[in-house]
Amino acid sequence: MAVAKKKAEIKKVEKKAVKKGEPAKKAATKVKAPATKAVKTKVAERRLFNVAVVGATGAVGTEMLRILEERDFPVKELKLLASGRSAGTKLEFRGKKIKVEELKKDSFKGIDVALFSPGASVSAIYAPIAAKAGAVVIDNTSQFRMDKDVPLVVPEVNPHAIAQYKKKGIIANPNCSTIQMVVALKPIHDVAKIKRVVVSTYQATSGAGREAMEELATQTADLLSGRHIEPSIFPYQIAFNLIPQIDVFLDNGYTKEEMKMINETKKIMEDDSIKVTATTVRVPVFFSHSESVNIETAKKITADEVRKILKKAPGVEVLDDPSNKAYPMPFDAAGCDETFVGRIREDESIKNGINMWIVADNIRKGAALNAVQIAEILIEKYL
Ligand SMILES: NC(=O)c1ccc[n+]([C@@H]2O[C@H](COP(=O)([O-])OP(=O)(O)OC[C@H]3O[C@@H](n4cnc5c(N)ncnc54)[C@H](OP(=O)(O)O)[C@@H]3O)[C@@H](O)[C@H]2O)c1
Repeated sequence: MAVAKKKAEIKKVEKKAVKKGEPAKKAATKVKAPATKAVKTKVAERRLFNVAVVGATGAVGTEMLRILEERDFPVKELKLLASGRSAGTKLEFRGKKIKVEELKKDSFKGIDVALFSPGASVSAIYAPIAAKAGAVVIDNTSQFRMDKDVPLVVPEVNPHAIAQYKKKGIIANPNCSTIQMVVALKPIHDVAKIKRVVVSTYQATSGAGREAMEELATQTADLLSGRHIEPSIFPYQIAFNLIPQIDVFLDNGYTKEEMKMINETKKIMEDDSIKVTATTVRVPVFFSHSESVNIETAKKITADEVRKILKKAPGVEVLDDPSNKAYPMPFDAAGCDETFVGRIREDESIKNGINMWIVADNIRKGAALNAVQIAEILIEKYL
């Protein structure tokens, strides 16, 4: 479906939902986003799998349920796991209410695929337990991403790496800002060899989880009503502000989020020679991360050539028509599966440079969708 048509459809559904008092984002995702071009894996025969979602009540976990349902993942039994705090609450899947259970050591008996997003410290303990019980874990946290025995996978970029899952029974899902960047960079790298990447991010609050989104909403309302605010999830006021710190600072002056982008890009692109430098910034947006990306290539490539390459690239939608003010924005990308690329232009300050603007829904392509796409390939090719 053309982007403009899809956007119009989403806006229509949102308007209706807002009238009914539903959150717009939830409504937007009711419009089934098209499957990414290359990764749409057909499930040839309907073998069914027992699936566990760990962190099911979180921002990523709840999106996982939507995506499993939207893509008709062949689920036999679905087990929803979270902490004791939300055990007993019910979440809907395929029209049925399923009770959330407390995550325990014996939670994984009979589970084939376990989609994890409970935070790194919880994954550190429970992902190996799940793998030992026979499940293949697809982990959204940072815990195993740089482990040499754990593949770090973006299906449009390195689907072949999934084969390495057998070493530990764990596949890692990359950091959200890295995923959308490599989806756009890999096809350019294949043609012109990227030597260096300079990226600045504008990351939505949903990237820090459910409570972080609530903090933005509450702070905005409180400040507009003249009430005092007290930051709790973010280190400073996030409403009407930007925070140039995501995760903790390291000895080299970078934040952990920035180093994740640097290290994960090399691992996913399977090329340690690519130089990457990143500045990651939290912005008062609910959904979708935006990135200003500058690349230097070994071979000269024009902006038109980049547009042509990206138009054919799996998972990418080029939205780049400055004369009609067409460029990607986080509000429009929310609820979509694609990684949108616009503002493509040559960097006139160096010989072989390209600037671009990359936007994607961090909860979908940056987390839940990428994980489910991995699961689709896993069950089709390896289980
Ligand atoms: N948000 C993103 O864009 C994004 C993208 C990529 C990766 N990730 C990663 O995914 C993970 C979750 O992110 P999120 O945004 O979904 O966070 P979130 O909204 O805060 O949700 C956290 C989930 O983990 C569960 N949980 C917390 N402690 C637990 C425990 N001790 N045992 C079992 N479950 C526990 C929570 O359950 P309760 O309801 O019981 O508290 C909740 O379901 C993080 O590691 C994050 O870095 C997030």
